[in-house]
Amino acid sequence: MTPASIRDVAQRAGVSVGTVSNVLNRPGEVSAESVQRVQRAIEELGYVRNDAARKLRAGTSTTVGFVVLDGQNPFFGDVVRGAEDEASKHGIAILYGNTDEDVARERMYLDLFEEQQVRGVLISPYSDINPRLERLRARGIPAVLVDRLSGDGRFSSVSVDSVVGGRMAVEHLIETGRRRIAFVGGPFEIRQVTDRLAGARVAVENSTEPVEIEVVATTALTVAEGAAAGARILSRPRREWPDAIFAANDLLALGLQQALIVGGRMLVPDDIALIGFDDISFASAAAVPLSSMRQPSAVIGRTALRILLEETADPELIPRQTVFLPELVVRRSTAARGSSSPAKPAAASGF
Ligand code: RIB
Repeated sequence: MTPASIRDVAQRAGVSVGTVSNVLNRPGEVSAESVQRVQRAIEELGYVRNDAARKLRAGTSTTVGFVVLDGQNPFFGDVVRGAEDEASKHGIAILYGNTDEDVARERMYLDLFEEQQVRGVLISPYSDINPRLERLRARGIPAVLVDRLSGDGRFSSVSVDSVVGGRMAVEHLIETGRRRIAFVGGPFEIRQVTDRLAGARVAVENSTEPVEIEVVATTALTVAEGAAAGARILSRPRREWPDAIFAANDLLALGLQQALIVGGRMLVPDDIALIGFDDISFASAAAVPLSSMRQPSAVIGRTALRILLEETADPELIPRQTVFLPELVVRRSTAARGSSSPAKPAAASGF
C-alpha cells in the first residue's frame, strides 16, 4: 500500500496543501475546523510527516527504537545490551525509551520513533498496542514484541515462558517443604505477571501435598513495592505469615528481603523462603543470595533484533513466536530450614 502523501491528506480534508502544511507546522495560524479536518484525514490515511515511508521503503534508516517497561530494572538493561550487540554488527544504533508502565509514554515513544523514521521497533508493551503497531507496519516500520507473546500472532515476539517459570518456582518451594506460599506481584495488566501466577497455581494444584497459595498484590514490579508488601506481611500475626514467597520478579524479591530482614522479625530462609524471577546480577549479591528463575536476557535481546532486521528486509515474513524456557537457579534464600539469614546488624543500617 503506497503511503499517503500530503496531497492525499489535503484532498481528503478538502483543503489546500498549504493548509495541511500549516496544520502540521503552525496549527495556531489555522482555524480549529481546518485543524480538525486535517487531523482526521491524517489518521484515516495513516499519513506520516517528512515523507518517512519513502525513506523507510528504501530501508535507509540506521536506527531501531526500543521501548521497555521499566528502565530501572536490570533485566531490561541486559536485554537492551543484547540487542545493541547485535545491532552494532549491522551499523545500527538503538533509540531507547522507558515507559514506566505508562500508556501515554508508550504512545509518545511510538510516535517519536515514527517521526524519527526508525527501521523497526522492539517493544516490551504495557498496554495492548497492536493497532498502533499495525499502523507503524503499514508505513514500513515492523515491530517485534519483547518479553511478551503476541497473543494473536500478528507480530513476532521473543520471550520466556512465564507460566512454566512460575510453575517451576513454586514446585521448587514445595520440594523444599514449604506449604503456605504467597505470590507477590502486580499490576496484573502486565501479561508476564498473570502468567507467572498462573504457573504458580498449576504447581499448587498438581502437588500431592496440602499447599495453600495467596496473592499479595503490588502496584508495580519495584524494590519499593516489594518492601511495602513485606511490611504488610510482617504486620500480620505470626501464625498468618506465609512460609514462602514467590515474587514476580527479582526487584520485588529484593525489596521483600529488605523488609523481612531489616524488619528483624523474619529469618530467610528459616522463617520464610524467597524466590524471584529474572536472575538479575544483584540476585546473587543479595544479603541472602536469592534463588530465581533465570531468563536468557541478552539472548532475548539479540534474537529480537535479528528477527526485526529479517522482517525489515522481507515484510512478507510470517510473524513467529520465539519462546525460551527459564532456568531455576537455587541459592540460599530457598534452602531448607536451618540455614538462617546473616546475623542482624547491631543497629539496622540503612538499606
Ligand atoms: O517488568 C516486567 C517483568 O517482566 C521483568 O522483571 C521481567 O521479569 C519481565 O519478564
